[in-house]
Parts: sequence; C-alpha cells; structure tokens
Amino acid sequence: MKIASVVGNRPQFIKAAPVAHALERLCDHVLVHTGQHYDADLSQIFFEELGLRPADRRIESGSGTHAEQTARMLVGLEPVVEEELPDAVLVYGDTNSTLAGGLVAAKLHIPVGHVEAGLRSFDRRMPEELNRMLVDVLADLRFCPSETAVANLAAEGITAGVHHVGDVMVDVARTFAPVAARRSDAIERIGVEPGGYVILTAHRPANTLPETVPILVEVLEAIELPVVFPVHPRTRAALERAGLWARASAAAHLTAPLGYLDFTALLMSAAACLTDSGGVQKEAYLHSVPCVTMRDTSEWVETIAAGWNRLVDLDPAAVAAALAAADRPAEHPPLYGDGDAAARIAAVITTGR
Ligand code: UD1
Ligand code: UDP
Repeated sequence: MKIASVVGNRPQFIKAAPVAHALERLCDHVLVHTGQHYDADLSQIFFEELGLRPADRRIESGSGTHAEQTARMLVGLEPVVEEELPDAVLVYGDTNSTLAGGLVAAKLHIPVGHVEAGLRSFDRRMPEELNRMLVDVLADLRFCPSETAVANLAAEGITAGVHHVGDVMVDVARTFAPVAARRSDAIERIGVEPGGYVILTAHRPANTLPETVPILVEVLEAIELPVVFPVHPRTRAALERAGLWARASAAAHLTAPLGYLDFTALLMSAAACLTDSGGVQKEAYLHSVPCVTMRDTSEWVETIAAGWNRLVDLDPAAVAAALAAADRPAEHPPLYGDGDAAARIAAVITTGR
C-alpha cells in the first residue's frame, strides 16, 4: 500500500511529521512538497528538526496571487500523483497546498484524507475557510481534531468518513517540547527573562494590509513587557513597504522566522502569547500559556470557552488590556486528544477502520 502526503508550508511540515513517522511503519509513504514555502527558515528547518525525511517529489509553485499559486500547484501536482498512483492522498489544514492536493487527487479518483477536517471560522473572507470547506467536501476520510469539528461537519450534512482522532499538533508538542527545552538557547540569545516577555506572531492578510500594518506597530508599542516577534516574510514585506521596520525594531525583539524548537522554547516560557495564527493559538493552550488572538473569529473555539484565549481587534488599547487580563485558569482540559492522533490516522487510512 502506498499513501502520499501533500505538504507545502510551515504548519504542514509540522503536522505531517508525526503522520509520516506513523505511516512509514505500516506502508510506503511518499512526501510531495508543493514549494509554497521555499525559504529554509519556513521549510528545510522543520524537516531537519522534526526528523521528516526530505520530500520525495517537489514542485515549485512559489508565491503569487491565489489563482497563480493554486494553478501552478494543480498543474505541477497532477502528473506527480498520476505517476505515483498512491492508494490515498493526505492533505493537511487549510492552505492553498491543501486545496490543490485534494482537488488533484479527487479528480484522479484517488481517495483523499483531510487532516484537521471540520474546522470553521464562519468567515468566508479568509482564504483558509474556503480551502477547508472545499477539501472537506472532496475528502473521503475526514480526520477531526475536536468534537466541535465533528459537529461542524454534521451541520453541513457531512457524516460519512468522519473520524475524531485528536490533533496531530498535540503529538508534535508532546514529543518535541522536552527537546526544545533541552536544546534551544533562544531565550538567552534574544536576551529575555523566562516568564517576562510576550511572544508574538502575525501574518494574516487582514493584519498586514497597508492600512493595518501601522496599527500592528502601535500594538507592539502599547505592550508593557518586552515582545519577541519572529517575523513572517509576508509581514516583513508589509513593514518594509510601509517604512515601519525601524520603528517596529525599536519596539520589539524582531527575529527571522524561527525553527520549531526555538519557537516552542520561547512560547513555553512566555508570560503570554499574542498571535493571529491558527496553530500558535492552539500550541499556546497545549503549553498552558494564556493567549490573545488578533482576529474576529477562531477555529479553536474550545480554547476561548476554556478561558485560555481571547479574541481582540487589532487595536493597541484592546490588546494591552487583554494581555493585562490574560491569566491561567485553574482548569486545563485535554481538548485535542492524547497525542496519538497520527497513529490513529495511519491505522484508519491503512485498514479502513
Ligand atoms: C500561507 C497560508 C496560510 C498559513 C501560512 C502559514 C494560504 C492561502 N495561506 O500564508 O493559511 O497560515 O501559509 O505560514 O495558503 N514568502 C517568502 N518566502 C517563502 C514563502 C513566502 O518570502 O518561503 C513571501 C512571499 O512574498 C509571499 C508571501 O510570503 O508572497 C506569502 O506567502 P504565501 O505562501 O502565499 O502565504 P502565507 O502568508 O505564507
Ligand atoms: N512556528 C515556528 N516558528 C515561528 C512561528 C511559528 O516554528 O517563527 C510554528 C508554530 O510553532 C506552529 C506553526 O509554526 O506550529 C504555525 O504556523 P503559522 O502560524 O505559520 O500558520 P497557521 O497555523 O496560522 O496556519
């Protein structure tokens, strides 16, 4: 039996790592890289740190508009999937690589498995919402990280092939948090005190527009604690275009995107996390770090209901107030499974059960 995984960007390398390890014990596993993220600090480093072997096949979709990027992926992936002829194709999350991988496989009549199925922000202006809804329809196997995700699918009439397996990012966090604590020197290198800083990530299109990126800098300036901010290339480009890089550097410790181990070490020891990322909201919860999310909506609604995550507008005063109020609730239920999601996915996809 042969399973292919299609991955293309930072969170997908992280999500695919435990699944690849689980699958490689049971069957042939082909890893296909779409080339959506190509810089070493957004791609290569995760293969090295998480022990993901190099991609077997790679296309170079690169950057561009949604149509350009997705179209290049479709054209590039079709012959690769046709040549490999896997028994099933796994796609991860909600990016353009997820949509392209799912669509190519479904049109070649190859069963599709969607890892992180059923998440919804109910905001169709997010490209990720469109990608995940479409892939959930195309998929034959839908691997849900939470009960909420199962219920979201049921509300759309999707009940077949739905498997509540938990979240693969729990698997990664459990395996690599101790490694990060042991190996990373990021806290000393950056020069912050454990428990005495805010870790920040921001890359959503809505927070990096010409009209919003100046407010992001005001947010940095409004936070009392030191801020560590590994800057995604989309955000770096927006800051540079707006002539705001120097001002942002004066307000925060700006770094290049970090590897998983450095980022995890910084997240685990932070006083709080401020983000607009999907994965980082959830990882903050997994490491019991209070989170403030600069978005109107979240797919990780359980973290909000549990009191560990708050949504705020991109507004300096609102962010400062939310960070000041962010505490660590007494209860911390295991919302996303026990760290065996990858093994469960591998079992379902290889045995059908
Ligand atoms: C993509 C995903 C988003 C995910 C994020 C993870 C879509 C629609 N978006 O957003 O859901 O949260 O990845 O990080 O799929 N760039 C580089 N080097 C790279 C890659 C990109 O400099 O290696 C720059 C390019 O200028 C590019 C921009 O970053 O135009 C955005 O990259 P892209 O992959 O299109 O979207 P992300 O914002 O990374
Ligand atoms: N991450 C990382 N280095 C960084 C920022 C994030 O390794 O500098 C990791 C983080 O631990 C999480 C994932 O990247 O596992 C989240 O990816 P991102 O925020 O790019 O995408 P999203 O989850 O929003 O799709």
